[in-house]
Amino acid sequence: MEEWIKKIAEALDLEELEKIRIAIFGKKGILAKEFAKLKTLSNEEKPKVAKELNEVKIKFNELIAKKRDELEKKVLDEELKKDEIDVSLFSPYNNKGALHPVQDTLDRIIEYFVSMNFSIETGPLVEDDFHNFEALNLPKYHPARDMQDTFYFKDEKLLRTHTSPVQIRTMQKHKPPIRMISPGAVFRRDFDLTHTPMFHQVEGLLVDKKGEVSFANLKYILSDFLHHMFGEVDIRYRPSFFPFTEPSAEVDISCIFCKGKGCRVCSQTGWLEVLGCGMVDPNVFEAVGYKEVSGYAFGLGVERFAMLIHKIPDLRSLFEGDLRLLEQFR
Ligand code: PHE
Repeated sequence: MEEWIKKIAEALDLEELEKIRIAIFGKKGILAKEFAKLKTLSNEEKPKVAKELNEVKIKFNELIAKKRDELEKKVLDEELKKDEIDVSLFSPYNNKGALHPVQDTLDRIIEYFVSMNFSIETGPLVEDDFHNFEALNLPKYHPARDMQDTFYFKDEKLLRTHTSPVQIRTMQKHKPPIRMISPGAVFRRDFDLTHTPMFHQVEGLLVDKKGEVSFANLKYILSDFLHHMFGEVDIRYRPSFFPFTEPSAEVDISCIFCKGKGCRVCSQTGWLEVLGCGMVDPNVFEAVGYKEVSGYAFGLGVERFAMLIHKIPDLRSLFEGDLRLLEQFR
């Protein structure tokens, strides 16, 4: 008896406990043997011994049930421990998401102009000839249309080649004054290290009464904006041509890689072209029926900004969705 109580108490797992239970209660178990001995006892002894044996049986049952509960709880605890997540544990996988560098750059651009009280306007990606070209002083057969390789649909519609049609749509919808930017995707038939068929531009347009908007105003805001984006850089305005602005300029910043000394990125010139701009051509105002107004406009490529800010050598890599690139912008 004592020996078996000890065995039950020392059982290490449920399997061992079951073996002990069979050794006690089984057909050939110790209790069966003891009960069998009853036959050999005298009629006076029998009830006494039988009563004792039954008490022992109940006692063993209780001891085994108690031990089983204990062992089952142990198993459960071990299982729970196995499934436990240690949130403080170091993980070699760091899957935190981040904004795509183009979106991040676009957000910074928008943030600046919104802080300068520009509204955000949008327009359709599938445009018509009037908004994308005609109203922007690019009549049919104008040689400047060759500047942009256009995706045309069969029904004379096209994928907008720049965000400038949103200038036209906004002026058609609203009376002056206008103070807007228009961020969005544009499309051109181009594909190489620095060109993809789809990219993003931000257009800017400011219109007010005649004589109230000057080239100096344009220079001020663009220079302030470029310092906001690129920090301490030199800025120069180079005469250029756009059909929808007159006079027009392209804006360069001193090369942020070589600090103007000349390197591969700036083609040894020391300058990087980052913006197109100018005073809105009177023909554009005429196309939307605006009278007695003056204004400036500008346009920039978001990917170009992102590439310069993050030193990304190949524009195409921005659109491949390769996590090895994207993971670098967390
Ligand atoms: N639309 C021009 C382009 O796509 C950029 C631009 C916009 C230039 C507004 C001047 C004024 O190249």
